[in-house]
Amino acid sequence: MASLRQTTDPWDTTADTNFNILQQALAQLDCLVGLSDVKQLVYEIKALVEIQHRRTKEGLTNEPPVLHMIFKGNPGSGKTTVARILGNILKGLGVLSKGHLIEVERADLVGEYIGHTALKTREQVKRALGGILFVDEAYSLARGGNKDFGKESIDCLVKLMEDNRDDLVLILAGYRDEMDYFLRTNPGLRSRFPIQIDFPDYSLKQLLDIANVFLLERDYCLSAAAREELCLQLRLAQSLQHSGNARLVRNLIERAIRRQALRLAGNRHLTRKELMLIEPIDLKGGSAA
Ligand SMILES: Nc1ncnc2c1ncn2[C@@H]1O[C@H](COP(=O)(O)OP(=O)(O)OP(=O)(O)O)[C@@H](O)[C@H]1O
Ligand SMILES: [Mg+2]
Repeated sequence: MASLRQTTDPWDTTADTNFNILQQALAQLDCLVGLSDVKQLVYEIKALVEIQHRRTKEGLTNEPPVLHMIFKGNPGSGKTTVARILGNILKGLGVLSKGHLIEVERADLVGEYIGHTALKTREQVKRALGGILFVDEAYSLARGGNKDFGKESIDCLVKLMEDNRDDLVLILAGYRDEMDYFLRTNPGLRSRFPIQIDFPDYSLKQLLDIANVFLLERDYCLSAAAREELCLQLRLAQSLQHSGNARLVRNLIERAIRRQALRLAGNRHLTRKELMLIEPIDLKGGSAA
């Protein structure tokens, strides 16, 4: 599919724009902590598109890659973030014409009366054309079995993703166990989604690295004692199920930034260092999830 969007017109700026989008999206991907499987996959797709262009120039045949995917992982493990970056990478590579992300869930796809479901599903696919349709908690479409309208939505999605394979990527996402069950009970689906990516929960070290990325981006830093407090809170959260992963880190840091502001507000003389520093008191107490 990529070769169709290549151009040799010197006045066409699409290639330059796409190159910039690609570089920016690859840099964003590199900034993500962990996720080595995702990064590996993206580099494989990028290499494949490059080689396919070279092969086309040599008159060799190319099979267009099937890029529909399954994302499995807990909340806050980075699925939506990766899908958004991936859209831009595929746009940058010329695989997708727009690269935008449309995120939907069961209620956006499944209707309440006969005929309503196909209408709703088609409408969402239409919005996503040129980009990625990301179905969150996709297993909920199979809830209720064959008589449920969810089944109709799955059938409709499968048909539309094949009709529009040139310029649409469908990602089905959800918790690992539920997605595995969903795929086991819908074997026809599994073969249509050749790419399956696991988003493991982040380790404590990775959560701290993610906190550092957030803080650096926002020009803040933790005092040594605040780092220990954050460590303590993250360790505690990890002992709970669905601890929130990277989203919890973001919420903790954003709350700490508000509390630091409250602690400092009204102080006439504040140094640059004080304006940047998060102290343990800014992190303590209450739930940030
Ligand atoms: N590897 C990472 N490095 C840095 N930040 C990350 C990483 N993964 C996730 N984040 C950040 O964590 C937050 C939550 O991530 P995201 O929304 O992508 O999770 P999700 O898997 O889609 O969750 P849900 O299943 O609840 O929708 C976002 O702000 C994102 O920027
Ligand atoms: Mg999400």
